[in-house]
Amino acid sequence: MDGPKEGGLRNVSSTCSISEMDDFDLSRLLDKPRLNIERKRSFDERSLSELSIGLGRHDNYENTYSPGGRSGFDTPASSTRNSFEPHPMVADAWEALRKSIVYFRGQPVGTIAAVDHASEEVLNYDQVFVRDFVPSALAFLMNGEPDIVKNFLLKTLYLQGWEKRIDRFKLGEGAMPASFKVLHDPERKTDTLIADFGESAIGRVAPVDSGFWWIILLRAYTKSTGDMTLSETPECQKGMRLILSLCLSEGFDTFPTLLCADGCSMIDRRMGVYGYPIEIQSLFFMALRSALSMMKHDTEGKEFIERIVKRLHALSFHMRSYFWLDFQQLNDIYRYKTEEYSHTAVNKFNVIPDSIPDWVFDFMPTRGGYFIGNVSPARMDFRWFALGNCVAILASLTTPEQSLAIMDLIEARWEELVGEMPLKIAYPAIESHEWRIVTGCDPKNTRWSYHNGGSWPVLLWMLTAACIKTGRPQIARKAIDLAESRLLKDGWPEYYDGKLGRYVGKQARKYQTWSIAGYLVAKMMLEDPSHLGMISLEEDKQMKPVLKRSSSWTC
Ligand code: GLC
Repeated sequence: MDGPKEGGLRNVSSTCSISEMDDFDLSRLLDKPRLNIERKRSFDERSLSELSIGLGRHDNYENTYSPGGRSGFDTPASSTRNSFEPHPMVADAWEALRKSIVYFRGQPVGTIAAVDHASEEVLNYDQVFVRDFVPSALAFLMNGEPDIVKNFLLKTLYLQGWEKRIDRFKLGEGAMPASFKVLHDPERKTDTLIADFGESAIGRVAPVDSGFWWIILLRAYTKSTGDMTLSETPECQKGMRLILSLCLSEGFDTFPTLLCADGCSMIDRRMGVYGYPIEIQSLFFMALRSALSMMKHDTEGKEFIERIVKRLHALSFHMRSYFWLDFQQLNDIYRYKTEEYSHTAVNKFNVIPDSIPDWVFDFMPTRGGYFIGNVSPARMDFRWFALGNCVAILASLTTPEQSLAIMDLIEARWEELVGEMPLKIAYPAIESHEWRIVTGCDPKNTRWSYHNGGSWPVLLWMLTAACIKTGRPQIARKAIDLAESRLLKDGWPEYYDGKLGRYVGKQARKYQTWSIAGYLVAKMMLEDPSHLGMISLEEDKQMKPVLKRSSSWTC
């Protein structure tokens, strides 16, 4: 296997402002008249006829990546231009989203996870989760309401500054909370914040993804508003550095991927994703690239920028080479020799071909591929994880060819991955003995439920974004149609159960905020694909993929 090519990312000295770095030039986004000036007004105030004004605009996403001359953009633009009627669900969704807003001393600071009055068990669904707020934040940004996002970014930054302890153990300075809550005392008329860094979370799981989402959201805010003053404050610069120093410190690692415990991200229970889960690697990569576009070139910043560039380089090489699985690669692994010693080893992680699960041979289409769940010594988790693959496309962690191959796979395996409700969080489910061992007999994660093959409507926004980026908006439209046939009627559930995602999840909350916000974001992006720039990064042309396949029997 070739070593990583030098000169991948652009020179450190030439990495500069967010608008120079990214695919969607901010200045151009701002030049164009906004979708409609009334954006500052809430959707509920607007009449349906007003809503359709300006829809179908697509004058500003010509830069969107559309490889191989595919001109998939014709679809949303022309179809919305000719036939878009705001779906009645949109108004309901906005109303429900607004009901979930949390205020701190009169200021909106986030949205709670679920406003489910019918559920007896509140658990921690009355908190503002960092990851759950991301689709809400994007919806508000797309609707021209950035204040709540700014307040959220500042509040969570302030919480990062707290001294964090679990029992007698002090957590890393940069850790961001999984969630926070505002306690209102009506008598004293005071508001107090409480944050959870994992100490109260079920199973004391570490929210590794929170810091990454925070950085990604800071970039989205900056891209959307053009307000660089927030990300340039010493506080935000320090916040980014603290988050990244948790991940960029030297240790015993032999890989550039980030080693994590189970439950460290959206899948916040034991699901056998410990090690190097794809979700974290994709978010890590995207956060690194986002930080790179926002970090100042002062003394402290410069040192970080250098470390970031080196890590991005190594990480993209590692992911594109070792996490990628397609028909050819599967066939190669199937024929791997084992027990190879030295740097000439082809089977670098000593994966025993017998450990390849049967299902993957049927699942793998002739055309298509994906990043597998995890790669570590003698262990490849072949499961498909939706979030990690969609974020990999958005961050351009995948090569352009790999991005298209992922979309090919989604199309080819539509029934398995989408079924009747977009989108399966993971595929396939773990059953029987394996379920006992892997989940620790978790009654919430039974087969085809919750994190174990359940279908999560929130993932619709990521799928839509990935579809737009790869020039396949028609896939997103199909998925949105499915969601529209059920979501409102079912009361915006958190997740669906079953092989086809047909049943409202056994313990699913209703009025789950990120199901609502995810739907709105998907709709708004399809109507105005220029929004994609907030959460997408263009392929770095200099970061060439090194994907040489050699087969074990040839050496
Ligand atoms: C569940 C999900 C987690 C989410 C939380 C609040 O625990 O697994 O990802 O943040 O609910 O909605």
